[in-house]
Amino acid sequence: MCELDNLFTNNRQWTEKTLEEDPTFFNKLSQQQAPEYLWIGCSDSRVPANEIVGLLPGELFVHRNVANAVIHTDMNCQSVMQYAVEYLKVKHIIVCGHYGCGGVKAAMENKRLGLIDNWLRHLRDVYQKHNEALLSIEDEGQRWDRLCELNVIEQVYNVCHSTTVQAAWDRGQAVSVHAWIYSIQDGLLRDLKATVTCQDEIADAYRIAMASKRL
Ligand code: CO
Repeated sequence: MCELDNLFTNNRQWTEKTLEEDPTFFNKLSQQQAPEYLWIGCSDSRVPANEIVGLLPGELFVHRNVANAVIHTDMNCQSVMQYAVEYLKVKHIIVCGHYGCGGVKAAMENKRLGLIDNWLRHLRDVYQKHNEALLSIEDEGQRWDRLCELNVIEQVYNVCHSTTVQAAWDRGQAVSVHAWIYSIQDGLLRDLKATVTCQDEIADAYRIAMASKRL
């Protein structure tokens, strides 16, 4: 008896249930995937991408890392974006952060956690960039939530400036980039209204989203 046996049991139950609903489900999926959306989210176990938006396997291409960061030199994330846009032809890239993000909190507190501190420096940069606005928020919890929002907007900006998205827009491929945030407390998604659909919209979308107060 392996302590992970329950996961295999769950897996068999899931396949049985799925096949009951659609006997051709796995056959169809094994032929191809044609997702319309790329989800860039946090690794947090409480933010499961497909479940939140009610999409089945095959419908959502997913990249997750700590605090949903899009770093220009992160070849993992950049490769996912390139493949999703150029080969899967996704129509939407959704950067989805979440309130109560531990990665964002760690960056705020500047604690030493080890290797991950290098990753969190990117979040720290966001924190410092918006230091003045953030420090004007007295309540620490609200400041944390606001940094979670600002981080999503900054990452959308990074997606828009990626070589992949820039090249897609140059050749006239329709790709929209969205800034969403998820609340673990009520399970609801909120649109941070920073959607960008072409090069000309980047600056305004960023400015308007940054200026708006959501808390
Ligand atoms: Co998180």
